[in-house]
Amino acid sequence: MSDSLQHAFSPAMLGKLPLKNRILKAATYEGKTPDGIPGDLLLNFHKGIVRGGTAMTTIGYCTTEADGRINDQMMWMHEGVRDRLIDINRELKKAAPDAAISGQMTHCGNFSKNRKMQRLKRPLGPSRQFNMLGAASGMPFAGAMAVSNIDYLVQTYFDAALLMKETGFDAIEIHFSHGYGISQFISPKTNRRTDNYGGSLANRMRLPLRVMDAVRQAVGDDFPILGKIGLTDGIKGGLQIDEAVEVAAMLDAGGIDALICSGGTSSFNPMVYFRGDTLEKGLIEVEQNPIMKMGLKLIGSRMFHYYPYEELYFLDDAKRVRDRVNCQMVYIGGCTDVASIEKVMSEGFDFIQLGRPLIKDPNFVKHAMSDRNYKNGCTHCNRCASLIEAPGGIYCPLNLEDAPA
Ligand SMILES: Cc1cc2nc3c(=O)[nH]c(=O)nc-3n(C[C@H](O)[C@H](O)[C@H](O)COP(=O)(O)O)c2cc1C
Ligand code: SF4
Repeated sequence: MSDSLQHAFSPAMLGKLPLKNRILKAATYEGKTPDGIPGDLLLNFHKGIVRGGTAMTTIGYCTTEADGRINDQMMWMHEGVRDRLIDINRELKKAAPDAAISGQMTHCGNFSKNRKMQRLKRPLGPSRQFNMLGAASGMPFAGAMAVSNIDYLVQTYFDAALLMKETGFDAIEIHFSHGYGISQFISPKTNRRTDNYGGSLANRMRLPLRVMDAVRQAVGDDFPILGKIGLTDGIKGGLQIDEAVEVAAMLDAGGIDALICSGGTSSFNPMVYFRGDTLEKGLIEVEQNPIMKMGLKLIGSRMFHYYPYEELYFLDDAKRVRDRVNCQMVYIGGCTDVASIEKVMSEGFDFIQLGRPLIKDPNFVKHAMSDRNYKNGCTHCNRCASLIEAPGGIYCPLNLEDAPA
């Protein structure tokens, strides 16, 4: 085994959290919380991941409040799920006592089709905006947050982080990217505010930094906080790499433990991070709402651009962030074989997050540790991603045994 590979498969510290190796599961919203309730579907999916040798799994899309959900099947952090989260985290620890569990904290901001809003009448973001996702559900417009809404949002992150720590998560990942709530403030495309939450980068970072401080206050200094940031929005007028590097530097200075560099936005250009076959065809097949289905047919090709898959597609830009910050760095994006793991390690990254490769093969780590020629088999067809709202949630159709009964 080369030194880089040895390094990847050896114990490491994420902040103050000991991990058995450097391979982590990326947050992938799995659509396995029917009616927002975490139960056996979610547990069994993540059991497979932790048993397969991955050092830390990540439960994706742990929304900080009910109105932060993109759809009404998503889980949100509240007292009603406390006992279930305790059970899930306890069972995962039983299944793999040496694996850790992270939860990704998110909020949809202006991008939602959730008809079961509890507090608000319509989604809110930094500025008023057309809510394309909600149009077919009768919510075509998102409003602009007042400062009181911003204060409330920050408080939801504090409360959710506290709940997550108390229910047995070992780490928290804050989602600062992909066009969701916080990244709408960072991006000059979606943040057109004229108060001190908009305009300059320092102003656009005011909310993200407040959120980070709130989460830190909730969990304390010894609890790892990761941040998933965008390297680019992939749209004209959006966040670009030069500013993204400064975003990283500001979070680093603000005390983040580790950064994960992704890119693209679910609202405007998702294929930047779903590099590979377009999601359009699969989404059209799965979509139940006839208006949404028609909309996808009409404008899908304009939204889902073709970005051919290549291994380690974010590496060059992620290296720019690596060179700018002192915190730990987690590489994400197209790492499917052993040579790629070696490459990422040799470039000075501390950890690697895998999304689709672990959906394809939850035993990736065990297999890669024992076979240098291991082939993962993920074809980057993105069928799994188009199944997030299908009954039973995601699975890899190449693994027939994973299909929901
Ligand atoms: C089914 C699916 C769901 C995803 N859901 C999320 C999510 O909830 N949060 C997130 O930050 N990224 C999400 N992603 C993106 C992944 O975390 C990751 O950034 C992307 O898949 C690229 O990594 P990969 O090449 O290892 O798959 C999702 C990806 C897939 C395939
Ligand atoms: S469906 Fe399977 S092969 Fe296709 S991208 Fe997802 S994990 Fe990879």
